[in-house]
Amino acid sequence: MPSENILHIENVSKIYKSAGKELTVLNNVNFSVEGGSTLAITGPSGSGKTTLLGLCAGLDRSTTGSVKLNGIKLDELTEDQRAAVRNRYIGFIFQNFQLMPTLTALENVMVPMELRGEKDIRAHAMDLLDKVGLAERSHHYPVQLSGGEQQRVSLARAFSNKPAILFADEPTGNLDAETSEKIEKLMFELNRDAGTTLIIVTHDLELAMRTNRIIKIKGGVIISDDPNATK
Ligand SMILES: Nc1ncnc2c1ncn2[C@@H]1O[C@H](COP(=O)(O)OP(=O)(O)O)[C@@H](O)[C@H]1O
Ligand SMILES: [Mg+2]
Repeated sequence: MPSENILHIENVSKIYKSAGKELTVLNNVNFSVEGGSTLAITGPSGSGKTTLLGLCAGLDRSTTGSVKLNGIKLDELTEDQRAAVRNRYIGFIFQNFQLMPTLTALENVMVPMELRGEKDIRAHAMDLLDKVGLAERSHHYPVQLSGGEQQRVSLARAFSNKPAILFADEPTGNLDAETSEKIEKLMFELNRDAGTTLIIVTHDLELAMRTNRIIKIKGGVIISDDPNATK
C-alpha cells in the first residue's frame, strides 16, 4: 500500500525575493499527515506558519519541493486547477475570518457552493448556519456580527464541501475563551463525524493539546514533531 497520508510535504522551501535580496521563509520542510488525524502547528510569530499552511492548501506555490494533497501534486497544477482542488477537498479558516463584507452570512456560505454548481444551495447553506447556531442571523452582514459569529459563518462556509482537510490559521486568535471553545468544538466535531483531517496553527497551548500531534516550527525549520502523549 502507498500510505494513507492525505498530505505529503517533501523538501519544501519558500524563498521570497525583494530588492535583489532573498529571504528564506521555509527551509527544507518535510512531513506527512495521516487522513482523519488532527495536527497543531505552533511557533513564534514570523516563523513561517501561515506561509506553510498556504502552501499545503494550494493558496500559494513552494519555491522548491513538492506538496501532495489527497494524491494530487499541487505544484504541477495551474492556478485554476489548484482553485478547483481547494473547492473540492479543502476548507480554510483565517484568524481574521475573511468574509465578504458586501454579502450576508447566508450569501457568504453560498458562494463556494455556487462555484461548485451545487443544487438547493440556499437550503444547504441554511442548514450549515443552523449547525453553527446562526440560523436567525442569516441575513446579517459581517459588520453586524461579532467576531465569534463571523468565525462561525466562516466555519459554515468551510464545512460546505465536507472538506477532506480543514486548515485553520489561528482560528481562535481574535476570540474570547468562551467563543473559542464553541469554534474548537465545531472543528473537532467535524473531525469526529466526517473524518475531516484538521491542521491548526495556534498559539493556544490548550488547543494544541487537543490534537494528536504537535509540530513546532522556528525560523522556517521544523524543530520538533511529536505525537501528543496525552491523547
Ligand atoms: N509575500 C511575502 N513577501 C516577503 N516576505 C514575506 C511574504 N509573506 C511572508 N513573508 C515573511 O515570511 C516570514 C514568515 O511569515 P508568516 O508565514 O506569516 O509567519 P507566521 O505565520 O509564523 O507568523 C515573515 O518574516 C514574513 O515577513
Ligand atoms: Mg501567521
